[in-house]
This record gives sequence, structure tokens and C-alpha cells, in this order.
Amino acid sequence: MSSIVALNVAGARPNFMKLAPVHRAMTATGAIRPVFVHTGQHYDENLSRIFLDEFDLPDPDHDIGAGSGTHAEQTARVMLGIEPIIAEVRPDVVVVFGDVNSTIAAALVAAKMGVQVAHVEAGLRSFDRTMPEELNRLLTDALADLLFVPSRDAVANLAREGVPSDRVFLVGNVMIDTLDRLRPRAERSTILDELGVRDGGYIAATIHRPSNVDDLDSMTTTSTALSDLAAFAPTLLIVHPRTRKKLQDHGLERALEAAGVRLLDPLGYVDFLRLLMGAGAILTDSGGIQEEATVLGVPCITLRTTTERPVTIVEGTNRLVGTDPALAVAAVREGFESERLPRRPELWDGLAAERIVDVLVDRLGA
Ligand code: UD1
Repeated sequence: MSSIVALNVAGARPNFMKLAPVHRAMTATGAIRPVFVHTGQHYDENLSRIFLDEFDLPDPDHDIGAGSGTHAEQTARVMLGIEPIIAEVRPDVVVVFGDVNSTIAAALVAAKMGVQVAHVEAGLRSFDRTMPEELNRLLTDALADLLFVPSRDAVANLAREGVPSDRVFLVGNVMIDTLDRLRPRAERSTILDELGVRDGGYIAATIHRPSNVDDLDSMTTTSTALSDLAAFAPTLLIVHPRTRKKLQDHGLERALEAAGVRLLDPLGYVDFLRLLMGAGAILTDSGGIQEEATVLGVPCITLRTTTERPVTIVEGTNRLVGTDPALAVAAVREGFESERLPRRPELWDGLAAERIVDVLVDRLGA
């Protein structure tokens, strides 16, 4: 009989690949009954539903439908939505993932209701407080009772902030649990044929951070780099809705296409993983892709000045180039010509979720 009830909360695309292995491992133990809350921060079919299907997640037990809005509106709607769910379910623990607005919203409500909070992917710091995600990380970790960290740098960050060490657990990276599980399916994906590109012969790009797309200057810089790259090798830009809107607002969509950049709508996990696996180099500003590229050994050029995932630089294939388009183009070209070097940082072994569940059973079971 399950004795521990865990409320697992996810809302935005990068949450689902973190929640899925934890949810599955909870069910597999029999000792934890997982209840799945979807906050609805992301609601498009290809940012949400497709992942639930690919990861064999059940339909959410509760769907808050928070949707888009300003940070305050979105965070507040998740808070208002989750309070009655916590009151009704009375979980032993609320488990939150990553650094999105849904994460801090759920953690704050749970903590004030006296329910234990577990944070998966705790301790990451970019030290850039202009990033909304950095504020979400700092606040969620300040509230959490159990902090599950993916790498030793994160342990050190939490120690510096005075988090007692008996709350901190180095468990590895749940994103890699999902990558390992779905890689065989990605190998069977036909997406490269459908797109008419060959293994190692193209550049895959994703850009969506507010700092890179929200104003005309930064969007123009990014577009310049992409256009230059398209002259060098087939360049696929997989376009987040936020980026699509900004490209249209600034009239840059046509310019990119005219330069030969191919704009694709967001893909499911399996096809997207296949695109990463086959890329000669990746240009991105995403957090998770830096990690996936490290494990796949594909050179990853990151259009940011900081990263909360330094292990991907020290041990992996990641390189920060800031926002200088010339530097980005040179780094991508260099990466494209280089050999693949897959790396596995400590405990990025596909078993992080099992470790998390072991800790939860140990701490909450009695
Ligand atoms: C959010 C996360 C970010 C994460 C990203 C991954 C925060 C602060 N940010 O950013 O860390 O890397 O998700 O995708 O939580 N939109 C749609 N359909 C959707 C969702 C959004 O069209 O299903 C559009 C809306 O116009 C919305 C915009 O995209 O205003 C941005 O969405 P939002 O959830 O606010 O932030 P993301 O940029 O997706």
C-alpha cells in the first residue's frame, strides 16, 4: 500500500522531461502515490501534450490552466490554482522541478501551508539576477526542505547560501534519465530524412531567452549569426512561440528565410533529440540543451554570458559566446569541424530519479 502521497507539479516544457522519470520511479516503488498537477503555464499541443504522450505520463490529476501573462499574473494564477488542490490532496510532499514560474509558485504555497517541498534540480546558479529563472531558483531553494542537486557545483552553491547539508542530496541529472530512456526511440526517428538533412551535416539552433529575443537589437544580432551560418551549412531554427512572435513583430522571419535559415515549429522530444544527436553543432540559449549536448558529445555554442550549468563547460561540450554574432559563428564553425566527445558528469547515469525516490521514502516513510 502506498503510504506517502507526492504532489508532482509541472507546467512548462522543460518540466515534463524532469517530472516523468520521478513520477515513474514513484509508481514503481509502490511506496509513493504520485499525484500529477499540470499548471498550464505551457498549453500549446507541441509544448505540452506531446510530451505527456511521449513520456507515457498519465493525464494530469489536476489541471490549473494558468496560461500566459506577465510574471506576476502567471505566478499568481498558479498560486491561486494550487492552494485548493494542496488542501484537498493533503500531500506529504510537493515536488517541484527546475526554475520556471510554476516552480516558485507551487513551492511558496506549499511551504506556507506547512507541506514539505522537494526541489528537483536545486542549487544551480547563473549569478545573473536579471534572469527570471535565477530568482525562481534562489527563492525555491530557500523554501525547499529537500534539495535534489544534479552536480557538485550546485552542492557548493547551496552550502555558501547556508542551506543545511542534511537537506541537500547529490542525485545526478533527471534530464539524462529521460534522454537515456528515449534515445532508442530517437534512433528510429525519421525526422532527418523528412527534413532532407544528413547526420553531422547541419546546425540545429534554438533561441528563446527574453535577453536574446525581446528587443530588436538582440534579435537582430541573433538573426545575423543565423544568416551567416546558413551560408556555411544547412541551419535549422526550431522556433519557440515567444521567438516566433518576436521575429514576426520585428519583420525578421522573412529575412531569415531569405538567408536560407529553415524555421521549424517546436518538435516533440523524440524528434528533437534525433535532431540534436545528428547535428554538427548546436547554437542555443537553453539550459537543458547544454546538458543534453554534453552527454551526446555534440559541440554546443551558447548565446549567453553566464550559465547555471558550469559542469557542461568544465567537463562537456558547452562554450559560452555571449551575444557577439561573429564569435558565435566562429565557434559554431569550429565545433562543426571537431570530433564528438560524449561525456557523463558524475551520476548522470540515467538513475537520478531512483535516487530521489529512495531519499523521499527514507525521509517521509516513517
Ligand atoms: C518558460 C520558462 C523558461 C523556459 C521556457 C521553455 C519562466 C520564467 N520561463 O519561458 O525558463 O526555458 O519556458 O520553453 O517560467 N506561449 C505560447 N504557447 C504556450 C506557452 C507560451 O504561445 O504554450 C507564448 C505566449 O505568448 C507567452 C510566451 O510564449 O507569452 C512566453 O511563455 P512563458 O511561459 O511566459 O515563458 P517562456 O518564454 O516559454
